[in-house]
Amino acid sequence: MNLKNLLCERADGVATVSINRPDKLNALNQATLAELSWLITDLDNDSNTRVIVITGAGPKAFVAGADITEINGLSSTKAHQFSREGQALMQRIEQLSKPVIAMINGFALGGGMELALACHLRIASDSARLGLPEIKLGILPGFGGTQRLTRLVGRTQALGLILSGEPIDAQRAHALGLINEIAPPEDLAQTTQAWATRLANAAPHAVAGILESVVVGQETHLEAGLALETARFAICCATEDMQEGTSAFMEKRAPQFTGN
Ligand code: COA
Repeated sequence: MNLKNLLCERADGVATVSINRPDKLNALNQATLAELSWLITDLDNDSNTRVIVITGAGPKAFVAGADITEINGLSSTKAHQFSREGQALMQRIEQLSKPVIAMINGFALGGGMELALACHLRIASDSARLGLPEIKLGILPGFGGTQRLTRLVGRTQALGLILSGEPIDAQRAHALGLINEIAPPEDLAQTTQAWATRLANAAPHAVAGILESVVVGQETHLEAGLALETARFAICCATEDMQEGTSAFMEKRAPQFTGN
């Protein structure tokens, strides 16, 4: 696919995807969503890609939401389809067996916040602002925000944020447990890269097992989650990487994981 609204750089097992509409604060129009959907599938199928970083081009925004000019005039039928397709994309990102890191370099609003919520880790610039301002447009979050935010921070905080529509700063988001780490803007890329490199060098079966156990397990009950954890633990123990990791520990050296 010819990507017009996204940039993608692949190096050393890390694919960095930039939403690239900086003059529109990287708002997600339909064309960008279609490209992102295609690219996520491509990166999922690329065995050289171990980690995906998603960020926004330009200094100001991660993603300032779905494109409001396209929401304006949306019929109810089209809105239904738009929401379901957006939700499906976020769901696919969340359910990938490779870690996806949101590098939040500025505004993460509406659909941009929902995209970040679907990622497995969120690293934010200390100048970032996050929020779900849809109520101010007479709508509600439609790409999974009402569900994921509630699961991440609890009903009280989620309703406070969604009903006010007011963005919060990175420090408050960190205190709420919404983001993993804050960095000064000039250190954001390096801080994110450190996470990405660590995960690109980790054993892929272990990483995939952790992601599935936590993400899928959270949506089940304890017994089912524990069964999932056991299944993934057993899969890991059939890998060469498990032999390598445990041997490296005993030999007091760094492990070299191969993905086998
Ligand atoms: N959809 C479409 N265009 C958007 C957009 C969005 N979600 N967010 C920003 N833009 C556009 C603006 O319309 C503007 O375009 P223009 O230069 O052609 O007029 C450009 O991006 C720059 O935004 P601007 O509003 O001028 O920047 P600002 O610094 O004054 O304000 C925000 C920044 C983020 C506070 C403001 O753009 C905003 O509130 N955006 C909408 C956020 C939102 O409601 N998101 C949820 C959508 S469901």
